[in-house]
Amino acid sequence: MASAMAVGGEWAVPGDKAAFDRAIVDSANYAQEARYHAIMTTLRRDAPLYRCEPAGFRPFRVVSRHADIRRVELDHRTFVNYPRMNLQPLEMEERVMAATGGRRYTARHLVVMDHPDHHHYRSLTQRWFTAKQLRPLEDRIRELAREAVDDMAARDGACDFVHDVALWFPLRVILMTLGLGREDEKFLMKITQEIFGPDDPDSRRSADPNARFETIAEFSRWCDALTAARRDAPGDDVATVIANAAAPDGGPIASVDAMAYYLIIATAGHDTTSSSASAGLLELIRHPAELRKLRADPALLPNAVDEIVRWSSPVKHFFRTAASDTEVAGEPVAAGEHLMMAYPSANRDEAVFDDPFAFRVDRRNAREHLAFGYGPHLCLGQHLAKLELRILFEELLARFDRFELAGEPAWTQSSFVSGMKRLPIRYA
Ligand code: HEM
Repeated sequence: MASAMAVGGEWAVPGDKAAFDRAIVDSANYAQEARYHAIMTTLRRDAPLYRCEPAGFRPFRVVSRHADIRRVELDHRTFVNYPRMNLQPLEMEERVMAATGGRRYTARHLVVMDHPDHHHYRSLTQRWFTAKQLRPLEDRIRELAREAVDDMAARDGACDFVHDVALWFPLRVILMTLGLGREDEKFLMKITQEIFGPDDPDSRRSADPNARFETIAEFSRWCDALTAARRDAPGDDVATVIANAAAPDGGPIASVDAMAYYLIIATAGHDTTSSSASAGLLELIRHPAELRKLRADPALLPNAVDEIVRWSSPVKHFFRTAASDTEVAGEPVAAGEHLMMAYPSANRDEAVFDDPFAFRVDRRNAREHLAFGYGPHLCLGQHLAKLELRILFEELLARFDRFELAGEPAWTQSSFVSGMKRLPIRYA
């Protein structure tokens, strides 16, 4: 990689392999998007299946091109989700194994499952999240979006969009899908932030590496109460579907599996969408011509939502593991090797997107982004996320004529699911 010197702002991609590999796993570089993209642009150009061997982590290969990520994710028999879901320091992987009796996850949810269990558990809720099935929820989602925008209007023309709006609106939508009310929102907010921000001093539970097990234990107690409530009094919500589901052996779903299901829906469904909402507003502020296009032609909004999701790519990676010897990007991959799917990199791939670093609400092929992944694990909530974002931006644009930055935006330090943590704005 010595010859590959790309520049991310003031920062030059390290030429030395050890420093380059450290940069790939350093969560601070994910809070500075120019750095992350400088690293990935280098990889797409020079080493599309890069062998990363950072100190303190199990080695892995970075898959940085759009076509290769699609191919790996589609071939779910050759590339499996278990045993490695995401980037964790070796020390943390060992703690997880010690705490779980040798397993490599703290909760067995859809993302760590493979066929046939994955198919069984995903089928339980898949129908609930189709575009058609979500249509009747549109009015309730719009009420929540209006409430968020009313709240902004009551703040004298200034707020931190992340804290005051973007974090709460998607969480309230998820609570609605689970049939839960406002009394649970602070709890779920805390749990999500602790799970996705273990490296960020502003969101983690504590600096103690075992804190995540306390988070999961606290969440499990809450889930058991939810399962019991939905078995006693079933409703028409997703929690009822999960609580009353059958396991593959025909018996009732185990409480740990129900917990893992609530966990993936509550966490994956909330932080991701709020990151895209904030990043979308920031880009519209930075690109007034794009905002004018949207105001002039509101029919562009669904496409703009895809461009916002492409641009923000809140999920930075998931892993796959080769189940047998194979090849990727023309290079051999041995059984047991781990592959990091770098979604934001796919979404800046010059081979797919013209001028990929330009934000364009009318981008012709914005929908081809891989921010929701691909193949059998494709984001279960993608239609819900897009519906929420479209409605939120419809309401924002209808209510306010002007938006501007009122301070420095900031991003979370996390190499997994991350996005904006501060977006001070003024509006009228
Ligand atoms: C899976 C991204 C919103 C629920 C995923 C994956 C990605 C992703 C990259 C992994 C796909 C793969 O491995 O191929 C996003 C983004 C969102 C978002 C960028 C918002 C902008 C949501 C919402 C929900 C949700 C609103 C609510 C239900 C899930 C679930 C999975 C998943 C349950 C696991 C699917 C499986 O393994 O079968 N998401 N997501 N996500 N997402 Fe989302």
